Amino acid sequence: MGILGTMKTLAAGAAALAVLGGGAASAKEFRLGLITPPPHIWTKAAEAFGADLEEATGGAHSLQVFPAQQLGNEAQMLQQLQTGALDMAWLTTAEITFRVPDMAALHAPFLVDNIEDAAKVLRSDLAREILGTLPRATGTVGVCYAMIGMRQLVLREQIDSAADLSGQRIRITPAPAISDFFEMFGAAPAPMPLPAIYDALANGQIDGLDMDYESIINFRYYEHAPHLLETNHHMFGMVALISAPVWAQLSEEDRALITDATQMHCDRTIDRFVEEEEDKLARLREAPGIQITEDVGREFFGDIVECWDAEWGEQTPYVARMRELVASF
Ligand code: BEZ
Repeated sequence: MGILGTMKTLAAGAAALAVLGGGAASAKEFRLGLITPPPHIWTKAAEAFGADLEEATGGAHSLQVFPAQQLGNEAQMLQQLQTGALDMAWLTTAEITFRVPDMAALHAPFLVDNIEDAAKVLRSDLAREILGTLPRATGTVGVCYAMIGMRQLVLREQIDSAADLSGQRIRITPAPAISDFFEMFGAAPAPMPLPAIYDALANGQIDGLDMDYESIINFRYYEHAPHLLETNHHMFGMVALISAPVWAQLSEEDRALITDATQMHCDRTIDRFVEEEEDKLARLREAPGIQITEDVGREFFGDIVECWDAEWGEQTPYVARMRELVASF
């Protein structure tokens, strides 16, 4: 779907909320929240989006970025978006799955084999179709997806098969779809916010985590969990959201401007993660004390795809539809 198509979908979604569209243009200082810390790529991209917005409007609009959960956790930010107390937020797809089970399809285990295909999925019309349901389900307008890459396993102890995960406490990003994946091996998923992970590893509260290369490097989790399994077991996405009540007050011109600028930074973020993924693994190979098991195939996880799909295929048709899409790549 082109940008025009996207905007039509967004506009239709907002209309579905029966909110007034196309308010008069007026200067505004927007607020955008994220959970990632100030130096994180998502935070930097949000700041760059703000600078572009300001430049494109000759300073009429500006954007203040609130990183590191300054405005609350993702669930709290979603509530603020719904009421219009917050203008924008860039949240994990994992968080959205609580309100929109269809989005869990993006976390289907081994949906894609590599980050290039993850990018194709996130840019697909099918994934955009799910964004079209957000106004009704969350009171937000979903402009575009970005990502943080593929998820790997980081463990304190080496494992020889996925069955060895049994009884292990594995930190996950809170999301039923991710939790189910680990429960299917008898593991004890431990949902926990990003800032709590390092200490939980250091004091032995958890045995490992489900994480991407970017965060593994930034937070040096390998210092306490030196066994990295290159599993690529699911992709981890981000959604750029605008409050539907705020969207309803924007002029058509402002909507187009904000949509285009946001889309550009979603695309750049995706491109950057795709380009840098291999180099990140190379950097991790040099990290002190780390032991990497590369190319851990989906066979390592037995019949997890069938089991997970049987469970989640009941909850959303997008599991089967996403698998069909990927088979067509
Ligand atoms: C996480 O919860 O694991 C996470 C969230 C945002 C960016 C990176 C990781």
